Amino acid sequence: MNKLEPTAHDFKKMLDHVCKKIISHYKAREQVNEIDKSQEGMIFLEKYSKNSKIPENPSSFKKIIDELFAQQIPLSLDTSGSGYLAYVPGGGIVESAIAELITCYANRYIGVNFTAPLLLQIETQVIKWLISIVGYDNSAKGILTSGGSIANLHAMILAREDKLGNKISKGVLYGSSHTHHSIWKGAFAAGLQRKHQRIIEVNSDGKIDLKKLKEQIEVDLKKKLIPFFIVGNAGTTSCGRIDDFYELKKISKAYNLWFHIDAAYGGFFCLTSQGKKALSGMQQADSVTLDPHKGLFLPYGTGALLVNDGTKLDKTFSQHCSYIQCQDNDLWDFSNCSLELSREMRGMRIYLPVKKYGINAFRKALTEKIKLSKYTFKKLSQYKMLSLIPNPELTIINFRYAEASNLKNKTTLELLDFINNKNNVHLSGVYLEDVFYIRVCILSFRTSKKDIEALLADLRAFMKNK
Ligand SMILES: Cc1ncc(COP(=O)(O)O)c(C=O)c1O
Repeated sequence: MNKLEPTAHDFKKMLDHVCKKIISHYKAREQVNEIDKSQEGMIFLEKYSKNSKIPENPSSFKKIIDELFAQQIPLSLDTSGSGYLAYVPGGGIVESAIAELITCYANRYIGVNFTAPLLLQIETQVIKWLISIVGYDNSAKGILTSGGSIANLHAMILAREDKLGNKISKGVLYGSSHTHHSIWKGAFAAGLQRKHQRIIEVNSDGKIDLKKLKEQIEVDLKKKLIPFFIVGNAGTTSCGRIDDFYELKKISKAYNLWFHIDAAYGGFFCLTSQGKKALSGMQQADSVTLDPHKGLFLPYGTGALLVNDGTKLDKTFSQHCSYIQCQDNDLWDFSNCSLELSREMRGMRIYLPVKKYGINAFRKALTEKIKLSKYTFKKLSQYKMLSLIPNPELTIINFRYAEASNLKNKTTLELLDFINNKNNVHLSGVYLEDVFYIRVCILSFRTSKKDIEALLADLRAFMKNK
């Protein structure tokens, strides 16, 4: 037998062992209340860096797996744990892990549209589900990417091609000071000049200042530059704020800009009734980035770009080559509408959990996150020592210690450290101008009131010593 092909018996033994390990880790989740063990992991780094040579000889599979579950996996920050309220939480719905096992095992090819038509159909179907969530009609098309950053990069290239042609050096793009940095990185990667990135201030609500945006566009036009791209935020990473999409659409029409919405954090809230209102107008954009590994609680590695006029995806990314004889059929051909050729089938990660639970289960979970955020905001507002950014729109709450101005951000930074060192929940922070705010981002499907109570208890413990 081929040395690289285990017998069915040995394959099953490996699967059984991995299953055993995963299930005991899964069961222990409920008891473990230490969310961050990354510092312990650092201690072992030296041991692992010593063994960094490529192994010449075989090792025991069981030993490799046991070590992973004893050290590499647990000695980390559990970003899919219930107490993870930092940055934008990753989910980790387990059905997606099973989907990944199946797709990697089968290893079928969906880069082109003729080798696995029925699997390709699943990926296409999943994208059409996302299209219906955003509210585009059937002229829309999309791709699944590794995440929001790569989706934003594709949007930038589409816009560049559509609006600038060969005048790339004159193209100017606009976003707010709260726009995610992947937009600016994507612009650079798409060949736009860094000096033509316009970061527009936000108003007191944290939304792009429309007056300043228009003024800046006029200034750029006078300089004979070509304004071509505006990004609206469907939930800023810093504060969860939603830009005014109706006004941005008007501006993009008036100045012939590509209107992109980065809905990586907030987009899936439009499944809920409150989110739908807050995000209304999203379907007016030329393109939308969604991140199922955020708002659909999936494991990392699943983002999406949806494009209102789907033909633009093919126009921009199709490329003839002599060694692939494409078939002329009606199926979507992913290698001809994205930068990628060979890649894993990402759709299965969405297909399996959404088929199994139904989208209503996700709607309910997201509604519960909004409710939990309101509860958290209300509770935090009761502490006189805290200053909160008012009226959170989705599930990000920002607060700081209302300290004397000569202390600057000292106590707020101490408070963040104190809470994170308690290891019940994990929070992150953001500088708005030079004022530091702690962020609570509630987006893990595992987060419940119990975690919020733990956060509040840690807060009280800090205040006791103040
Ligand atoms: C608003 C926004 N856009 C884009 C991204 C980048 O997404 P990813 O990390 O999936 O590349 C993030 C990540 O947090 C985000 O919050």
